[in-house]
Formats: sequence, C-alpha cells, structure tokens
Amino acid sequence: MGNDSLTITDNRTGKTYEIPITDGTIRAMDLRQIATSKDDFGLMSYDPAFTNTASCRSAISFIDGDKGILQYRGYPIEQLAEQSSFLEVSYLVVHGELPTAAQLKAFVHNITVHTIIHENIKKFVDGFHYDAHPMGILVSAVGALSTFYPDAKKIFDVQSRQTQMSRLIAKMPTLAAFAYRHSVGMPYAYPDNDLSYAGNFLNMMFKKTELKYTPDPALEHALDVLFILHADHEQNCSANAMRSVGSSQVDPYSAVAAATAALYGPLHGGANEAVLRMLTEIGSVKNVPEYVKRVKAGEFRLQGFGHRIYKNYDPRAKIIKRIAEEVFEVTGKSPLIDIALELERIALADDYFISHKLYPNVDFYSGIIYQAMNFPVDMFPVLFAIGRTPGWIAQWQEMLLDKEQRIARPRQVFIGASRRDYLPMERRPA
Ligand code: CMC
Repeated sequence: MGNDSLTITDNRTGKTYEIPITDGTIRAMDLRQIATSKDDFGLMSYDPAFTNTASCRSAISFIDGDKGILQYRGYPIEQLAEQSSFLEVSYLVVHGELPTAAQLKAFVHNITVHTIIHENIKKFVDGFHYDAHPMGILVSAVGALSTFYPDAKKIFDVQSRQTQMSRLIAKMPTLAAFAYRHSVGMPYAYPDNDLSYAGNFLNMMFKKTELKYTPDPALEHALDVLFILHADHEQNCSANAMRSVGSSQVDPYSAVAAATAALYGPLHGGANEAVLRMLTEIGSVKNVPEYVKRVKAGEFRLQGFGHRIYKNYDPRAKIIKRIAEEVFEVTGKSPLIDIALELERIALADDYFISHKLYPNVDFYSGIIYQAMNFPVDMFPVLFAIGRTPGWIAQWQEMLLDKEQRIARPRQVFIGASRRDYLPMERRPA
C-alpha cells in the first residue's frame, strides 16, 4: 500500500494492519478485520452525534467552516443570493447544474401548477386544535400527502420522483400558510399562480379581503433570498433524518415529514426565536455590555452566536444583515436591530468570543427580519422548512442513487445487563 494509508498496530495482539485512506477518510468497515480472536466481532468506531464520521459522499453543498465559505454545487452563496432566485437555486441544488432558460421555465411551470392542495388536506388541517403550533401541523400535513399520492412509492421511477419533487417544493408554502391561518383563525387564502414563489407565499399568509394581493417587491425579494440561504447545508440534523428515513425506501413525503420534525427541535430550527427573546430581554443598547459580561461568566449563551462547523463569520449572516436594511426601508426599523448590532460589535472585539471563534450565525439576524415582516415567532422554523425542502429532496435523491448506500443502521456499544433468567413476580425483591 502507498503513502495514502494508515498503519495500525493492535497492542492487544501485536498485529499490524494497513488501512487505505481515501479523501481524508478511512472506512469504518476496514477496522472490522482488527480482532483479538476468531470469535471477536472486530473493531468498530464509536462516534455519538457523528462528530467525526462522514455518512455519505455528497456533491450538493460545500462548507469550509474556518474560512466561512458555503457553496451550493460549487457556486458561492453570495453570488446565488445576489443574482439568482429561489426556484433557480432549487433547480441547481436538485439537478446539479444551473438550468437553461427553457429548463428554468419548465421547472417554474411545474412548481406553479402544483401549488394547490387537495381540499381534504384543508379538512385535515381544520382538525387541529385552534392554537396548534404551525410546525406541528406542517409535519403532519406533509406526511399526510403520501396518502394522496400513492404513486410516490415508486421512488426508483425517475418521472415519479420528478413529480413528487415538484409537488413538495410547490405545496410546502401552501401547507405552511394554511397551518398559520388555522392557528390564527383566519380563512385560508388559496395560491395565486400569477405571483412569484415568495410573492404567492406572502399572499397565502397575509391576504385579507382584497380581491388580489400585491406583495411588496422588497419584502418578496428579501423572502426569496432568505429561502436561498436556507436551501441546503450539507449533513445537518434534518438532512440526516431525510436520508436515514429515506434509506428505508419510504415515499418522499414521509421522509420530508421526518426531516421537518428534526427541524422542529430548538437546537436546529428554533435558534432565531431564541435570539429574538434574548434581544427583547436585553431591551436597550445600554444593557448590552452587562449582558455580554454575564455570557462570559457562563450564566447563559449568546443566542445566534457560534456554530459547530463555522469558526468564522457565517456567510449567510452577512447576507441577511444586508437584506435587513432593505426590509427596514419598507417596514420601518426594528428597535431590536440596534441592540443586535451593538451586541455584535462588542462581542467581535472581545477576547472571549475571539478565542472561542464565536461569530454571528444565520439565526442572529433572520428572526429580526421575519418579525419586521409580520411573521409570528412560531412561523420561523416553518419558513426554514420551506427554504430547506429542495435541499432535503436533493439529499434524498443522492442517497437513493448512491450504490454504496443501504438502509441506515448504525451499530451500538451494548452496556446493558448480560443474560439473566426471568423472575416470576413473587420471587422479585420488593
Ligand atoms: N455563547 C457563549 N459561549 C459559547 C457560545 C455562545 N453562543 N457557543 C459556544 N460557546 C462556548 C462554549 O461555552 C464552549 O466554551 P468552553 O470551551 O470554554 O467550555 C465553547 O464555546 C464550545 O462550545 P460547544 O458547545 O462545544 O460548541 P458546539 O460546536 O457544540 O456548539 C452551538 C455549537 C451552535 C450549539 C453553540 O455555539 C450554541 O449553543 N450557540 C447558541 C445557539 C445558536 O445560535 N444556535 C444556532 C446554530 S446555527 C443553526 C444552523 O445552522 O442550522
């Protein structure tokens, strides 16, 4: 074996093994040959929370956390946010290349004609309690779509996959808006296919009695960019859920329901809500230094700061900060933005944050924008889910077509009781 290998000596047996290194990884299965005897199962790697384990080979998004780089299919997020649209980015993420004009037109058409949902789904949403969290409704409603499209089971049929992808990207905003309107007791607003993807979502969210809703172009653009920024983020918790559940070869609606459920958790899709609460609690720019002092004393964490992967400024946070200014020109400035800016200014000059490599992440400014646009806090993770849907679909398809992938089934290190005999009730200790 050449230089691209790892030599391991098992000190239990004195035996030496050479294991190939490919793309900076060794295969965990290559460890299995390392055993103490014929009866020994062989060595496994132990990696709770997958902090140093690659579960797949992927060509969708690339992150360099130290440099603060995010690319979808090789294109820098900054260029896509500046020059592309969410549906074009969806095409790119799902199909791997930027579309031609004709391909984009067909793609947008396919999404647009699928925005309506079956009337029975409306009845299903009606069944939720009046104050149901819209994310809980979304998880259930998107899973329920599988019962309306039994053809979705044909996951190895290219045409069927394309149809389900269009349906999912098209219907997530409709389900999301219906979930919101149910939770506030407003009649549902049907999709308006004359509008853009983001414009139609604003229509379904905020239309009142007017005959036709006209979205503000600046808010429509801001929302479109926010969707772009959330489109994919390599093997995060929900992408991993999508792949893991999808690996059982279930239909994509059920797998997206699982991914959406993963996003529901506060450690994944809920941080921007925490940022908003924190800024409200700080209350005023003059209270910022004291708050930072308490963070440094370990009383609590600065919400919207730090990231498992980014050890530099999250590139999405920079773009969101710029978009915030465009939004505030329409909505008026949020009083929270000055507190956020001061918090960022003080933190970025402070030794604690510098030495811990803590920078603003995507959630630091997004909640302030959503709030300024009149989205209630409960809808924040729902907005994230709409933006992330093309990423989930791309991850799912890549997994399905990857010959190396099989049903995801991790190993465990068993630490429970060894074999023992069943004790009848009367013989058990009190
Ligand atoms: N404020 C203050 N100290 C922090 C923070 C913070 N926000 N984040 C990390 N630290 C400190 C932490 O106390 C620890 O210090 P020490 O080594 O002295 O004990 C060190 O930094 C490493 O922390 P960690 O918890 O091991 O880092 P992690 O990579 O496991 O956590 C994180 C990443 C995002 C969970 C964490 O930074 C955090 O809790 N941030 C606040 C919540 C937040 O903004 N979450 C949104 C993440 S972005 C969402 C997405 O991309 O989907």
